[in-house]
Amino acid sequence: MTLWEQIRRLKEETGAIIAAHTYQPPEIQDVADILGDSFVLAQKAKEAAASTVVVCGVRFMAEGIKILAPDKRVILAAPQADCPMARQIEPERVAEFRRQYPDVGVVAYINTTAELKAQADVCVTSSSAVKIVRALPQKTLLFLPDKNLGDYVRRQVPEKEILTWDGYCPVHNTVTAEEVRAARLRYPGAKVAMHPECPPEALALADMVGSTAAIIEYIGKESGEIIVATERGVTDKLSLRYPGRLHQLGEEADGSCRLTCPDMKLTTAEAVLAALRGLGGEEIELEPTLLAAARRSLDNMLTYGG
Ligand code: 13P
Ligand code: SF4
Repeated sequence: MTLWEQIRRLKEETGAIIAAHTYQPPEIQDVADILGDSFVLAQKAKEAAASTVVVCGVRFMAEGIKILAPDKRVILAAPQADCPMARQIEPERVAEFRRQYPDVGVVAYINTTAELKAQADVCVTSSSAVKIVRALPQKTLLFLPDKNLGDYVRRQVPEKEILTWDGYCPVHNTVTAEEVRAARLRYPGAKVAMHPECPPEALALADMVGSTAAIIEYIGKESGEIIVATERGVTDKLSLRYPGRLHQLGEEADGSCRLTCPDMKLTTAEAVLAALRGLGGEEIELEPTLLAAARRSLDNMLTYGG
């Protein structure tokens, strides 16, 4: 029996489910029961009947599921998988900001630690940020930690004053306007779909800006060629389904790709199998006060953005 067959069998035997992000390697995506962007993972894993969820993604995704569904066993298959952006601001600095500016709303991107979420009024994902920021009662907001997503939201919601931090995704922040122009010349007529974690000069050249789930939906609806400006997981999974239509930005002739998130690629079949057997991975445990404080901002996300 292959490792993948063993994974499918163990899922049936134990009743555990797998929640995987769309940047995971394609074979991991294939064994997922819940597959999606950060928002979909949080929402669907919370609603799922299963009592054990094995998360194939990075730590903030597993923590988010634990916070929303504290009675579930949530196991991060690859415990080393962390999003560097999630720690680009210290929670103490946010607490100090709140003391100084009590009227300013604090919005935390879901790519943050539980400690940062606990300091925020509300969490957002790339798919829900614009909708939620627009709906919030405060006129002035601090958006943490992604400056690019914060800047994108600022342009979509000009009626609010949005302060941003200096955080960024080390993968998406490398996208340049110059390489987008070069890709357009190379693939004339192709549309450009881009993740809002990319810098503003590049985003200004995109035909479509959205979360990974929104990009996948766009690819499904369009019929022509698309230059995909996000982590390679999306094209790795979809290029077989849409042969010749997708052009991954940052891809080299040897098949390597600059837009690869190393943390998202740490999940292996062996790691998933060990997690399902209770012999590997890390069960997420959060101190109750922290969990309750972080839960308020995630619950608000589901209320405003669901
Ligand atoms: P999504 O919100 O599109 O899932 O993005 C998460 C992420 O980590 C992007 O780099
Ligand atoms: Fe974090 Fe960027 Fe990786 Fe997403 S792609 S998990 S934002 S480092």
